[in-house]
Amino acid sequence: MIANLGYVVLSSADLAQWRRFGTETIGAMNASETDDRVALKIDEHPFRVLILSGDADRLAAIGWEMVSSDQLDAMRLKCADAGLPICEGTADEADARCVTNFFWVSDPAGNRVEFYHGRTGCGEPFTSPICVGGFVTGEMGLGHLVISAAGVFDETHAFYTRVLGLGDSDDLTLPPPAEGAPEMRVRFLHVDNPRHHSLALFNLPSPTGVVHLMFEMTEMDDVGRCLDRVNAQGWSLMASLGRHCNDDMFSFYVIGPGGVPFEIGHGGLQVDWSTTEPTVSTVPDYWGHQYQVAT
Ligand SMILES: [Fe+2]
Repeated sequence: MIANLGYVVLSSADLAQWRRFGTETIGAMNASETDDRVALKIDEHPFRVLILSGDADRLAAIGWEMVSSDQLDAMRLKCADAGLPICEGTADEADARCVTNFFWVSDPAGNRVEFYHGRTGCGEPFTSPICVGGFVTGEMGLGHLVISAAGVFDETHAFYTRVLGLGDSDDLTLPPPAEGAPEMRVRFLHVDNPRHHSLALFNLPSPTGVVHLMFEMTEMDDVGRCLDRVNAQGWSLMASLGRHCNDDMFSFYVIGPGGVPFEIGHGGLQVDWSTTEPTVSTVPDYWGHQYQVAT
């Protein structure tokens, strides 16, 4: 079983922007000792988001932590049984991710999906360079990631649920935002922890592949302070403060470096999935989350 969303790898043409945004806006540490990458550390893990130098700003890999090494082997077999080509991570790639070994497959949307068990270099405490109180991680992983599955929506949902074993949390359909525009649909998925969703699939395209990446702050006031920094530092908002209906998240959305949107939240719902049925919904928010720019 998948324990949690352990890390995300991005590529970016502008690492300086990520250093600034990561440390001065979000309040993460940059744990990288070299200039060719940025490693955003938000807890005792060596990092949760790794940004590697590249030609374009894009999602490079999704890193799932398995509950045990036996389960890592079982996932390898499941992927092989499903006919997926299995690629073993190289030693250099494993070093970069602070894992001893990993393998990866591609999802139907073309994303690199990695699996590992256990990370090296855990235990160094998180100390925010700008005194952010902390982030909600631990057994629930780094937060959540929403990816585009445009044109392959049903296949991608089937891949994550039937092959990888993620569970449905909510199936949200929104009316077209304008006449002639397509309907928007988001399928929210959970793994083996109480976070309402660790991954969600969006039916429309996103230039970076990332619809958004969510970090959850332990203090509500830190969300407000982060919003103050976003405004003071000149980053563009994607959506105003609001509270989601399905995961109760109090949050706002900012467009980070390279056009990668971040949701900065607090108070996300934690669910006992052994006693909870997935939902189908048509209303995204109790209030707020007004979109500020075209998405
Ligand atoms: Fe979100």
